[in-house]
Amino acid sequence: SSPLPGSVLDLVPVVPVAVVEDAADAVPLARALVAGGLPVIEVTLRTPAAPDAIRAIAEEVPEAVVGAGTVLTPAQVTGAVAAGARFLVSPGWTEVLLAAMREPGVPFLPGVSTASEVVALLERGVREMKFFPARAAGGTAYLASLAGPLPEARFCPTGGIGPDSAPEYLALPNVGCVGGSWMLPKEAVAARDWGRVTALARAAAGLSAGARC
Ligand code: 3PG
Repeated sequence: SSPLPGSVLDLVPVVPVAVVEDAADAVPLARALVAGGLPVIEVTLRTPAAPDAIRAIAEEVPEAVVGAGTVLTPAQVTGAVAAGARFLVSPGWTEVLLAAMREPGVPFLPGVSTASEVVALLERGVREMKFFPARAAGGTAYLASLAGPLPEARFCPTGGIGPDSAPEYLALPNVGCVGGSWMLPKEAVAARDWGRVTALARAAAGLSAGARC
């Protein structure tokens, strides 16, 4: 698979966030999302199955672009990239984590929720970040307020976003894409209802395209 351009934010408007409990679900889950028009997939490192899930998607679903989310440690950075992650996402950042995320040369999104954290990342040459937890931290009103003083910063808001609010985020000048798990309801994944996942993915892909026009 070819390396991604430097940016995660400009690939697609909606990035599904997957919590995979059973690595055997990874390939059908990824295929269901791709079929619905959402090829960029963040697999969170919150479950023991995550590295195997990333590896399976990277090897068996070439149409997908798989990345790792909830990256918290340098060891997780190394493990995720070795498994095939093509981008990295973190809910927050430290100097140690940032240095580790820069190392492998794949695009990464450190997480922020305050203006000071944004300023600190800009100081370090990082302009693309995750805004987390988006809804709880102030949602679209907060992001719109950051665009005035900090127009260089661009965001992927994640956390508490759904089909109703995604278009409002995507309409903001400093938002490149949104992340969320709404197209992967726990009960649908547990029941391996991949048709439902594809239908929800298709709706998400469609609403984001609408928000762009
Ligand atoms: C994340 O890890 O980015 C979020 O937990 C995903 O957010 P959501 O489940 O509220 O969509």
